[in-house]
Amino acid sequence: MERSLPKPGVLVVVGAALAACALSACGSQSAAQSGDNLVEGKRLFVERCGSCHTLARAGTTGTQGPDLDAAFRQSLADGFGRSVVRGVVAEQIKHPMGQEMPADLVEGDGVTDVAAYVAISVAKPGDDTGLLATAVESAGSGEPAVAENGVLEIAADPNGRLAYVTSEASAEAGSLTVRMPNESTVDHDIAVENGGVSARGDVVGQGGVSEFTADFAPGEYTYFCTLPGHREGGMEGTLTVR
Ligand code: HEC
Repeated sequence: MERSLPKPGVLVVVGAALAACALSACGSQSAAQSGDNLVEGKRLFVERCGSCHTLARAGTTGTQGPDLDAAFRQSLADGFGRSVVRGVVAEQIKHPMGQEMPADLVEGDGVTDVAAYVAISVAKPGDDTGLLATAVESAGSGEPAVAENGVLEIAADPNGRLAYVTSEASAEAGSLTVRMPNESTVDHDIAVENGGVSARGDVVGQGGVSEFTADFAPGEYTYFCTLPGHREGGMEGTLTVR
């Protein structure tokens, strides 16, 4: 399929066909192959790659590395097939160019699962459907967090997205301890600001809790992750203190 060099407009259709084909385990000369687990590929991509890379279909918003939709749009338009993208991604995982991306973020079948998911997804308009649509819960869509006994708990998105589990929280005025458990593989912290309070917890990795205590007057505050690119990627929410 990659040798047919279709016109740019045609590629979108080809990609959609590939996705459908891969999920029903047909075809072998394509971006996704019969042994690939695309659902696992998406899950791993979100968890291990999405904090640094934007990929619209995966709902990831990282900015430390290149926007993968943008990075591959031109090569797809130039007629390189999606199977070429698959090869580039797999190679980048094993032998990253540049200094910033660690090697072997996924291993074993994870390499081809991630490469296949990225290959069928980059620069493709629309949303994932079927099993892929439910592979990872959407980020930040949890119930609003409500402080109890002076403690407000707002976990980081456990799937590694640049988000907290909820983007809304409320508390009573007074002394408040803000806790952010982090189950994801990406480092995060939590900070709160408005004119009055500006406080933050430590940056913590998987299994850690970022935590601080401060006095809050009634008002609206923003909570956010202070790590570069995380707030910009959507890791923030509104805390209403009454
Ligand atoms: C810590 C941040 C970080 C993580 C995590 C990360 N990358 Fe990267 N990635 C980068 C950076 C930065 C570059 C650009 C090369 C460089 O300067 O290191 C890059 C480059 C790439 C490229 C080449 C893009 C191009 O323009 O050709 C691909 C493909 C890629 N990454 C895929 C992945 C995949 C897949 C994962 C997960 C397994 C991943 N990255 C995880 C930071 C990251």
